Amino acid sequence: MQVGERIAVVSGASSGIGAALVRKLAGKGYTCVLLARREGLLRELSAEVGGEAEVCDVADREAVERVAAAVLERHPRIALLVNNAGIPARTTFLGDPDRIEEVLRVNYLGSVWCLRAFLPGLEAARPSDVVNVVSVAGMVAAPSGGPYAASKHAQLAFSRSVQPLLRGRGVRVHAILPGPVETEGFPQRGRLGRFLEPTIVEPEDVAERIVSMVARNRTESFIPRWYRAFGVAQALVPGLVRFGARRYRSRR
Ligand SMILES: NC(=O)c1ccc[n+]([C@@H]2O[C@H](COP(=O)([O-])OP(=O)(O)OC[C@H]3O[C@@H](n4cnc5c(N)ncnc54)[C@H](OP(=O)(O)O)[C@@H]3O)[C@@H](O)[C@H]2O)c1
Repeated sequence: MQVGERIAVVSGASSGIGAALVRKLAGKGYTCVLLARREGLLRELSAEVGGEAEVCDVADREAVERVAAAVLERHPRIALLVNNAGIPARTTFLGDPDRIEEVLRVNYLGSVWCLRAFLPGLEAARPSDVVNVVSVAGMVAAPSGGPYAASKHAQLAFSRSVQPLLRGRGVRVHAILPGPVETEGFPQRGRLGRFLEPTIVEPEDVAERIVSMVARNRTESFIPRWYRAFGVAQALVPGLVRFGARRYRSRR
């Protein structure tokens, strides 16, 4: 490790938001360690940005601990950890039980295992930052995407719970809650209807927001910003949200 080198670990770095973020962070001078399962994509991108690739299934706690130990051996100080790896559920709570478990293991527990495993490096680099890539689905639950929403509710609760726990240890925890983003795993165009279609953003927009929320030490951020209204409405007038969602679905 060179003097002054800032290390960022990004999970789910082989595509979508993670890949866009790695490019953005590399442009800001970070050395990125890329985590995901598809080795070819990881190696290609890490070569492009001068980073390092680590094949890792974040749902596998032992694999995460093994990979983190190897990374910390090379880089004892981690300035930034981004828990971004995630999968859609594409099922309801009445659907495939294996998929329900997998979504929780990747989207929620993956963030927990990565934070725990990289914490010694984050503390060594204090002040350091953790960003959890949640979703507006972390605050709003629709019947069709129930297991995904539950995994994101859990990930947001995790983020909010560790934020005060780690503040005194010099590790700042942030959560970003994107609305629809056009990516390989979550294709959005042509699926959302007239009202929501124009709100789709690009992975680069989310990457930009992550960098700015870390720089400004913002704890939570929605993108687009007005999506916060969905979360507030779900908390204050859940009946109205249910009614609106039913009406919207029936009109499409
Ligand atoms: N796109 C949206 O509309 C949207 C909205 C709100 C929040 N988000 C969140 O944004 C994050 C990134 O998603 P994306 O939209 O960029 O989708 P994406 O392009 O499909 O990226 C998902 C990334 O997660 C990785 N991944 C999946 N399972 C993994 C596992 N078990 N272990 C390690 N890595 C794993 C994938 O890589 P490998 O397949 O190579 O492992 C890929 O790099 C997710 O947490 C998602 O929930 C997305």
